[in-house]
Amino acid sequence: MWRDLSPIGRAASGGYFRQPFTSAERECAAWFVEQAARRGLTVETDGIGNMVAWWGPADGPAVVTGSHLDSVLDGGAFDGPLGVVSALAAVDLLRARGVQPDKRLGVSVFVEEEGSRFPLACLGSRLAVGTTTPDQAATMTDRDGVSFEAAMVAAGLSPDLGPSRWLRDVSAFVELHVEQGRHLVDVDEPVALASQIWPHGRYRFEFTGEANHAGTTRMEDRRDPMLSYAVTALAANKQARLAGQRATFGRVAVEPNGTNAIPSKVTAWLDARCDSPQRQADLVAAIERQARERCERDGTSLVVVAESVSAAVEFDPALADQIGGHLPRIPTQAGHDAGILSAAGIPTAMLFVRNPTGVSHSPAEHAELHDCLAGVDALAAVLEGLIR
Ligand code: GLV
Ligand code: MN
Ligand code: MN
Repeated sequence: MWRDLSPIGRAASGGYFRQPFTSAERECAAWFVEQAARRGLTVETDGIGNMVAWWGPADGPAVVTGSHLDSVLDGGAFDGPLGVVSALAAVDLLRARGVQPDKRLGVSVFVEEEGSRFPLACLGSRLAVGTTTPDQAATMTDRDGVSFEAAMVAAGLSPDLGPSRWLRDVSAFVELHVEQGRHLVDVDEPVALASQIWPHGRYRFEFTGEANHAGTTRMEDRRDPMLSYAVTALAANKQARLAGQRATFGRVAVEPNGTNAIPSKVTAWLDARCDSPQRQADLVAAIERQARERCERDGTSLVVVAESVSAAVEFDPALADQIGGHLPRIPTQAGHDAGILSAAGIPTAMLFVRNPTGVSHSPAEHAELHDCLAGVDALAAVLEGLIR
């Protein structure tokens, strides 16, 4: 499976560009359909583009496992695909052991988990459970102004963005994922269970100034939004460090982006993640306050828009006890479709597989084969208990 997936959407950096409804991501989706067909699994695609491949009884309560096949820009091979490959491998393992599922088991792939194309992370699962409505989705466009529906149509899909029917019968959801930190390296374990997801969000900071000549405009006459942004980026780092939390400006758009002109506008996206909702609110407020103070000095203006906000998630403790009493439990600062399903009331668990460097959202993301196989074993054991 890794051999099939490894060339799809791969860049010269060694990383992946698999944005939703692009040809690379559609090739991954086609690969999934083919893998399901090879195993005699029945694939259902909802009107959002999410897919599930069923094994076992035709209806009744369902247990679902899976992840996503889209990537961040220049992402790693494992964030998403590891959960899908491991789910298919777990089905193979259970079958080889002669397991007959009493409940149907679905292997799922959610679209646009990363929010790399549209502003809202986990848009596929949010639409599927109905916490984001089709009307809300209709207001969102990618960087070229293309809507989610239009992107689906261009990829040959038929959009119907209301809640997904197939999720209604799901009694448990389990997502296996590459670890995106070094906890498992530190404790020398291959696999862990997730305890919680930190609250996190993306906030669009729009700094507006005055375009002018880079040479002829006296320094004291400028209204330069780049300065307001630069000081805000430093403030975000400082505030997050002081609070023991996380803040990042990883994306910036400069208008008109010319070398010899003071920009008219700088738009920058803050990604902030904290260990409590209060600290999240305090951190974003502190960064915004410093940004506004700086704008005052620069003669620029600021608009802040919360684009994608995800509340804290505590994974189901009873399910965790049932499936993995012996596994270490670790919190994660990364968002996942499992968090969206959990918040929607579906008993949900996550397994993490050791990542030797802890690097993720980067071409350097990695997991060793023996750890991936330990992940498949753990997932198969979990699923076996749930489908009987
Ligand atoms: C998704 O991986 C996120 O946490 O941004
Ligand atoms: Mn992921
Ligand atoms: Mn990710």
